[in-house]
Amino acid sequence: MIKIRIHKRIDIPFRVKWLNNPLANKFTGENIGETTTLKKQKEWFDNYQKNKNKKFFIIADDSKPIGFMGLSNINKVNKNCDIFIMIGEDDYRGRGVGKIAMDWLLDYGFYKLKLHKINLGVIADNVPAVKLYKKLGFKIEGTMIDEVRHKNKYYNFYSMALFEKNYKKRIKV
Ligand SMILES: CC(C)(COP(=O)(O)OP(=O)(O)OC[C@H]1O[C@@H](n2cnc3c(N)ncnc32)[C@H](O)[C@@H]1OP(=O)(O)O)[C@@H](O)C(=O)NCCC(=O)NCCS
Repeated sequence: MIKIRIHKRIDIPFRVKWLNNPLANKFTGENIGETTTLKKQKEWFDNYQKNKNKKFFIIADDSKPIGFMGLSNINKVNKNCDIFIMIGEDDYRGRGVGKIAMDWLLDYGFYKLKLHKINLGVIADNVPAVKLYKKLGFKIEGTMIDEVRHKNKYYNFYSMALFEKNYKKRIKV
């Protein structure tokens, strides 16, 4: 059963494994395919704990961690933030887990934090991600052409957003 809990320090090695997984990081990160280290992720966690504008969660299958997700750049004045997700364990992608997890996080953003708008960025070729976001009600607000480069190929990048009013009227399936 899929469960969501806060991201703890003991989860750092899982993050390193997932962020370095070529099947999971294929279309993520500032630079596609960029890898990380335990040291960098420990520093990341220390900074995260000091930052009030971020909320990170672990997605688990019962007690087994399978991915992470979160909200960043939470802006209480503009009532918006960015959202992101990574299912790091290969056996769990393409099975509907992303929808369950994102529904939970969108409820958290719109009902608990009372946000007005949730933004995200995604590489246009990331088919499962774009499908998932559209299914959740996100709309493309802009396309950045040739924004990301990897192995001599350029990729377009979508800015997508979901408004609270559209989320609340969405019929959950
Ligand atoms: C993107 C991600 C969160 C989607 O979560 P998921 O649980 O795998 O997605 P779902 O099983 O809910 O599938 C979403 C949709 O994509 C489709 N899909 C899944 N894998 C696919 C594939 N390889 N090719 C085409 N479509 C695919 C599903 O059929 C579903 O569409 P449908 O609702 O029309 O049937 C997950 O794949 C992931 O973590 N990927 C790696 C990290 C990443 O890219 N994160 C997003 C960065 S913006």
